[in-house]
Amino acid sequence: MLDEIWDSKMLTNNGPMHQKLEAEMEAYLQAPTAMLFNNGTIALLTALKMLDLEPGSEVITTPLTFAATAHAIVWNGLKPVFADVSPDTLTLDPASVAHAITSKTSAIIGVHVYGTICDVEGLQRVADEHGLPIIYDAAHAFGATLGGIPVAKFGRASVFSFHATKLFNTFEGGLIATPDAEDRERIYFLRNFGILNEEEVVEVGINGKVNELQAAIGLLNLPLVENERIQRRRLREIYCEALGDLPGVRLPVVQDNVENSEQYFPVVINPQRFGRTRDDVYNALKERQIFSRKYFHPICTDFEPYRHMSIISHRNRPFAEEVKSQVLCLPFHSGVDDTDLADISAVFHAK
Ligand SMILES: Cc1ncc(COP(=O)(O)O)c(C=O)c1O
Repeated sequence: MLDEIWDSKMLTNNGPMHQKLEAEMEAYLQAPTAMLFNNGTIALLTALKMLDLEPGSEVITTPLTFAATAHAIVWNGLKPVFADVSPDTLTLDPASVAHAITSKTSAIIGVHVYGTICDVEGLQRVADEHGLPIIYDAAHAFGATLGGIPVAKFGRASVFSFHATKLFNTFEGGLIATPDAEDRERIYFLRNFGILNEEEVVEVGINGKVNELQAAIGLLNLPLVENERIQRRRLREIYCEALGDLPGVRLPVVQDNVENSEQYFPVVINPQRFGRTRDDVYNALKERQIFSRKYFHPICTDFEPYRHMSIISHRNRPFAEEVKSQVLCLPFHSGVDDTDLADISAVFHAK
């Protein structure tokens, strides 16, 4: 593939690899618009930019996400407003979003965190009542479907990350998908400095292009996705079997009609019922050279730029505040072997 790239004499700028991968993405995600980006963060920035929201207006999102979700709002000159998550799915809670809406609200960003699909119907209902667009941060949800419908069909736009940590990756990369073919042109200009031709620039665009090497990695990785997903599904079953009977350990939610992306395996550890804290488990695993992740802890409202903001919830105490010290993502990839599994099980079952 490297030879092909050198021979084409196109290293970037919508080259043949880029075009081929983009066509494959369009088919895979069944999205009339599927545009590759150099990373998920620039894709998020661009998706928000596309909405032409009132400067300074408020965008409601979840605090239980990667910092990039909130940063993309601020970089667009908008104000993030954090609403609580639903205790069962840990995704943005429609009732809390309804509480957070003001006359200044201009959009909602839901995050399909861990690959768990947001309550897309509930969020859409709230959004429609107020005439607000929804963007989904689908960084964790590549390949997920709801009722057989690919997640990219929901909301005004969905943004994927193809970072090296993702099941499908292009080392660094991202994508905006929308259900509307007419978005292609606008996103094309936003992604490429707004350049129309050699002499005209028609839009304040950014550089969101992927290079040919990134696209080639994607073309090589895409055929491997299904096998990796199958292996992770098996791993999910093994984890559920091994940890299912432990009091105080909540397994990932099983959603009706959802084909999971198999990006993460988050467990929620209730210290009172389990007898140990999430951090105890994290440290015990680490001692055995097993690296789990405290995703997402700290949450966005713990970070310096957002610390002054509270989480709006329809409950007395935001659930996001409670769960952040309890959630732990276990190693979740085809490289987890029997020794790792025995170690992980031993740590959870230790007295
Ligand atoms: C939920 C979420 N949103 C956005 C991003 C940003 O994606 P990228 O790292 O491709 O810029 C990530 C990254 O891992 C993420 O987990």
